[in-house]
Amino acid sequence: MTTVIKGGTVVTAGDSFAADVLIAGEQVVAVGQGLNGDTVIDAGGAYVIPGGIDVHTHLDMPFGGTVSSDDFFSGHRAAAFGGTTMHIDFAIQPKGATLRETLEIWHAKATGKAAIDYGFHVAITDLPDSVLEEMPRCVEYGATSMKLFMAYKGALQVDDMTLFRAMQQAARHQLLIMVHAENGDAIDVLVREAVEAGNLAPKYHALTRPPELEAEATARAVRLAEVAGAPLYVVHLTNAGALEAVRLARARGGAGHIFAETCTQYFFFTKDDLAREGFEGARWVCSPPFRTPEDQAALWQGVADNSLQVVSTDHCPFWFEGGTDGRPAGKELGRESFARIPNGCPGIEERMMLLYTHGVRTGRLSLNRWVELTSTNPARLFGCYPRKGTVAPGADADLVIWDPEARRTLSAASLHQRTDYTLYEGWEVVGAPRTVLSRGRVIVDGDAWQGEAGAGQFVHRRPFGL
Ligand code: URP
Ligand code: ZN
Ligand code: ZN
Repeated sequence: MTTVIKGGTVVTAGDSFAADVLIAGEQVVAVGQGLNGDTVIDAGGAYVIPGGIDVHTHLDMPFGGTVSSDDFFSGHRAAAFGGTTMHIDFAIQPKGATLRETLEIWHAKATGKAAIDYGFHVAITDLPDSVLEEMPRCVEYGATSMKLFMAYKGALQVDDMTLFRAMQQAARHQLLIMVHAENGDAIDVLVREAVEAGNLAPKYHALTRPPELEAEATARAVRLAEVAGAPLYVVHLTNAGALEAVRLARARGGAGHIFAETCTQYFFFTKDDLAREGFEGARWVCSPPFRTPEDQAALWQGVADNSLQVVSTDHCPFWFEGGTDGRPAGKELGRESFARIPNGCPGIEERMMLLYTHGVRTGRLSLNRWVELTSTNPARLFGCYPRKGTVAPGADADLVIWDPEARRTLSAASLHQRTDYTLYEGWEVVGAPRTVLSRGRVIVDGDAWQGEAGAGQFVHRRPFGL
C-alpha cells in the first residue's frame, strides 16, 4: 500500500519546493512531481514538513512531591495535535540504580501507551564507579545523551566532580552531555533566606534564581566540557548572560561541540508573570525562571544567528488545581510557599504553532530555519538524522501537512495536554497542522485523533557525531 501527499510545498531545513511525497509502508520513498499512490492526501495550499522533534520533555515524571500530569499516551496525543511526531524524554536515575535499570523504568512507562516515536536521555543523579563504567553501554541502549543537573540541591543536583567525570567518560565514548545550568548551591541559600524572611509568593521563585546564577553555571559547564573534550548541550537556556557564555565558547572553536537550546515559553513570558494576582503566578513557575524583555530579544537573536540550535519545550505539566478527582497533586502544593511549587510548565502541543506565528510570520525566522530548529537540528544532534528530521527518500514518514492560514485560539479546553491550564490561554495563532503522519500512518486528521496507544516505537539513537 502506498500513500501520496499531493500538491504541497515540501519544506526542509535546506529547501522549499513544490513536490508530491510518496510513502510506502513506514517510509518516504520518493519526493518529486507527478507521483501517484493508492491513497491520496491533499496538501494543496499547505507545507509538508518533517514532524517536530521535541528533545526536552518530562512525561510521567516523579518530581517536586508529585508526578508530571501527562503520561506517554496523553503527552503523545497532545504532541501530535501540535505537529510533533517524536520526542526525547529524560529517564531520571533513582539513586543507587544502574543506567540500564533507569531506562527499564522509563521503557515500562512508554510501552503500550506510546502513540508517536520516542527516545530517552539518561539523567544521571548518582555516579559511583560502576555507573561511570556503565556509561559506554548507553550506546548499546540507544540512549546516547545524558543530562546532569547543576541545580535542585538535595534532589537531582550533582557536584562538579561528578559532572566532570561524566564529561570525561562522554568524551571517550561519543556521548553527548546535557546540563541544567544553574548554580544550585547559591540558589539554595537565596531560597532559604527568602523563606526565613517570609517572602513566600510565587514571584520569589524568579527572584531567588537570578540570571547571573544561570550564566555562571553555563560558563562553568562550558569550560569543564572544553577541558574534558566532551560535547555539551545546554538545556533550557533563558538569558543573555548564559547565551554569551555559549556564544564565546562557539567562537573559541567550539561550534562543533558546544550547543544550546531554549524553550518556546522563554520567548514570551517574563518574571513579571510570576507576580500575577494572588497565586496565579504559580502557573509560570519553572526552572530556570522567566527573565526580562531584553533576554527575550537576546533569545530571538540567538536562534537567528545560530548561537542557539534547537527550540524544545521542557514540557513538564502539572495541574494548577490538582490532588482531587484522580489528579496528582499540582501547583497548589506551593500555596504556602513558592519553594514547594512543582517546577514545570506544559507546552509540547503549542511549540510549533507559536514559533510559526511569532517566528515565521513575523519574519524573525525563515520557514527553513523553523524546521531546522524544531526538527532537523534535534535529529542531527541526537543521533537519528536522516531517519528523522527531514523529508527525503529513506526517511521515516513522520510528516506534518501544515496549513499556514489555519487560525486557532489556544485554550486549555481545546488543547490535549492533561492539565487544567495553558500559559497561552486565549492567544491566537495562525498556522497549524492539518494532517499528521507517524511512520506513514495518519494519526491526526483535522480535529480527529486517529492514533493508537502502543504504535509509537523507541528510537535507538547513534552516538554523538556518528
Ligand atoms: O521547571 C522545570 N524545568 N521542570 C522540569 C525539570 C527541569 O529542570 O528540566
Ligand atoms: Zn532542567
Ligand atoms: Zn526539563
